[in-house]
Amino acid sequence: MSHTPPDPLRTDEPHSARIYDYWLGGKDNYPADRAMGDSILSVLPMIGAMAVQNRAFLRRTIRFLTEERGLRQFLDVGTGLPTADNTHQVAQSVAPESRVVYVDHDPLVLAHARALLDSAPAGRTSYVDADLRDPETILREAAGTLDLSEPVGLVLLGVLFHVPDDTVYGIVHALVSELPSGSHVVITHSTDAATGPAMREAVRQWNEASSNPITLRTPDQVARFFDGLDLVEPGLVSIPRWRPATPEVGEPQAMDEFGAVARKP
Ligand SMILES: C[S@@+](CC[C@H](N)C(=O)[O-])C[C@H]1O[C@@H](n2cnc3c(N)ncnc32)[C@H](O)[C@@H]1O
Repeated sequence: MSHTPPDPLRTDEPHSARIYDYWLGGKDNYPADRAMGDSILSVLPMIGAMAVQNRAFLRRTIRFLTEERGLRQFLDVGTGLPTADNTHQVAQSVAPESRVVYVDHDPLVLAHARALLDSAPAGRTSYVDADLRDPETILREAAGTLDLSEPVGLVLLGVLFHVPDDTVYGIVHALVSELPSGSHVVITHSTDAATGPAMREAVRQWNEASSNPITLRTPDQVARFFDGLDLVEPGLVSIPRWRPATPEVGEPQAMDEFGAVARKP
């Protein structure tokens, strides 16, 4: 009798990183991911644009930190599937000697991590298979690639909402406290301040499909991550409003993804 071995990547079930990849127009997704992605799009059509804006925020902030703040090292926790313009590509396009450590706990991301290791020869990248909730391991492993006595850009985009309770503040503090003065922190976090019930329904559907549920926080709760740090202008805002690349007529549309950059004094 023929026997089909189980699919270790469970492509028959929706997976959060592949749904996100689908919204970004990527190729690493399957029919189950697309069906769930479309269902969430139907309640919150803006969610695809939010994923795209999250990556655009990454490009703008990493460029800012490399060009204007002189950073040459980044610790990117909750990396996600490789896509266009990963952190090292953005940083190394400005400063090829930049070093980047990627961290994620998802075996699917680990399986694709090779695409994150194509560093420019002058720089270096590495991948750490670790959990955000274990900052000591992250810092210990990162020290193999980064010089933690020099400023680091700590990148926490779309990941803190995966920690449901207030332990998340201690985790961010544990990471930041080990970085020297002049280090910067970049965070994006989903809220329901702009789109209310539609955002809450989208999150409900996502959480039903995902083994990695999301907890929304208010902008005030997101602002607490930056306690003790110096916020860079314009502070914590809906991400399309953070130093938009091209001047627009009026303010860019608000969306329920808030972000900021801050410097450790
Ligand atoms: C929504 S994606 C964000 C990807 C990317 N940072 C971005 O903003 O485009 C969230 C990522 O965080 C990872 N993640 C979630 N919880 C985590 C944890 N406890 N430790 C490490 N990574 C985690 C997921 O595996 C996923 O790849």
